[in-house]
Amino acid sequence: CKGVNGLDKVVLREVRGSSAEVYLYGGHVTSWKNDHSEELLFLSTKAIFKPPKAIRGGIPICFPQFGSHGNLEQHGFARNRLWSIDTDPPPFPTVSSNKAFIDLIFKPSEDDFKIWPHSYEFRLRITLGPGGDLMLTSRIRNTDGKPFSFTFAYHTYFSVSDISEVRVEGLETLDYLDNLKAKERFTEQGDAITFESEVDKIYLGTPSKIAILDHEKKRTFVLRKDGLPDAVVWNPWEKKAKSMADFGDDEYKHMLCLPQWAAGSSKGASRMKIIMLYDLQAHSFVGCLASK
Ligand code: BG6
Repeated sequence: CKGVNGLDKVVLREVRGSSAEVYLYGGHVTSWKNDHSEELLFLSTKAIFKPPKAIRGGIPICFPQFGSHGNLEQHGFARNRLWSIDTDPPPFPTVSSNKAFIDLIFKPSEDDFKIWPHSYEFRLRITLGPGGDLMLTSRIRNTDGKPFSFTFAYHTYFSVSDISEVRVEGLETLDYLDNLKAKERFTEQGDAITFESEVDKIYLGTPSKIAILDHEKKRTFVLRKDGLPDAVVWNPWEKKAKSMADFGDDEYKHMLCLPQWAAGSSKGASRMKIIMLYDLQAHSFVGCLASK
């Protein structure tokens, strides 16, 4: 159906009431609701649904570059290109009938090729399972047999009740690069991470489990992952929020952005497969898995 600005979107609904909305613009999940119709992702009320701006919130797909790790535009260009519905997806493990899913595909245009001269197909399957778990599976495959390297992220914006009351567990004692201090390297000291000012850090070698605890909403997101070594923790806070045209002045209070990212390569005919699973079955469990 049609979304903001007449852009095409797909709505996935699961029998017990959970749902997800996916825009073809960016292959972007903009909404994910549990079976109580509670929104689990943050989406800015000022999000601009128009090229070249990526949608602010939800789950942007950063590819072929994450952040400023290269010469391309920040976070690459897949997030501000039009994806298509993939009518001929490669075989996936059998999907049981109580799951709703959509297959998308992104193929570079001639102009994209000029910016980044590699031939590939990026396939994304988004699955909403029983109980409302959400799974994103990315498959990146070169189409001319020539290898290339890339960086990638699921740049997830979580919805939180009050950022000052949120704790992130699993990153304590890790080394991080502080984007606010010219990427200087530090070691995290405290217990759980709490928030009282702008934060933009790249945690290195993160464990397979990271938890976001939201006391007010009585919700715990647990990220489980394999093969996505680094994690960014970002909240623009008040001053930066005011400088962003597509972000409400006070919205920083209600979001936490925790991208999980990886460097990958596509060699010969091999493809890279990255899976992220958001599982709601326990108390709002979020998990993410990646494998090559
Ligand atoms: C984070 C970066 O991943 O994304 C931040 O660490 C950046 O530095 C943020 O501000 C948002 O980026 P963008 O391009 O979507 O405004």
